[in-house]
Amino acid sequence: MLVSAKEMLTKAKEGHYAVGQFNINNLEWTKAILLTAQELNSPVILGVSEGAGKYMCGYKTVVGMVNGMLESLNITVPVALHLDHGSYEGALACIDAGFSSVMFDGSHYPIEENIAKTKELVRLTGEKGISLEAEVGAIGGEEDGVVGAGECADPDECKMIADLGVTMLAAGIGNIHGKYPENWPGLSFETLDAVQKKTGKMPLVLHGGTGIPADMIKKAISLGVSKINVNTECQLAFAEATRKYIEAGKDLVGKGYDPRKLLAPGFEAIKVTVKEKMELFGSVNKA
Ligand code: 13P
Repeated sequence: MLVSAKEMLTKAKEGHYAVGQFNINNLEWTKAILLTAQELNSPVILGVSEGAGKYMCGYKTVVGMVNGMLESLNITVPVALHLDHGSYEGALACIDAGFSSVMFDGSHYPIEENIAKTKELVRLTGEKGISLEAEVGAIGGEEDGVVGAGECADPDECKMIADLGVTMLAAGIGNIHGKYPENWPGLSFETLDAVQKKTGKMPLVLHGGTGIPADMIKKAISLGVSKINVNTECQLAFAEATRKYIEAGKDLVGKGYDPRKLLAPGFEAIKVTVKEKMELFGSVNKA
């Protein structure tokens, strides 16, 4: 059964480790992440962006697929199914479809509007026992070829949003989605420290987990980060393994063209990536 992310993140914050959110794109991704979590006895959060939700034929399809897998793969570790960077409407649709966790990303709105919309979602998710992630300070990243620097959140605004009763808070600390540029100055631990001082026990979320060096991840966890999002790194691992298979001409040998064979190396590569991250984040055996 899917669970809210509240309990796993409260435990993570108290225990000074982080739970990984791994974004899913299809059946192979979902199966690879769930099996790895079970093998490592780790809690896990499956992230679904609005785009990936559309790609997978809508949120209800995703809920059906994930619930089916929890049962047929005998997954007993805590699993949350979470909307990643949701709009207000997207969050409502996921609450309705059976997600156990949603993110409302109001970081691009003026703070008053972010507060008003987040407040309404605190009420709606609270009624159903669904966890809610809010965001302050936009996460940078590449969009249409323009690489934006990650913003740093205002700690007072973080406190205002945290006090509304959200479950976890994503605060921009110079992090970026996708690959980091060569001249990236690194995470702003000064901002993170200030945000944690204002928000106390609130589990903090680090987006853009791909490519952040291990020592910075560890430091971020020591300063209150309890959820770390990883997406691009699984995509890169999957693409590389699939390319190698094709380049080696393996699809031309026997029934190597069978999708169950063709996608197997990419599937295994996702498992390896997820395992490395769970070990780094410290969530192994924390189920
Ligand atoms: P990356 O793609 O950089 O790993 O970021 C993932 C993320 O933050 C999803 O919200």
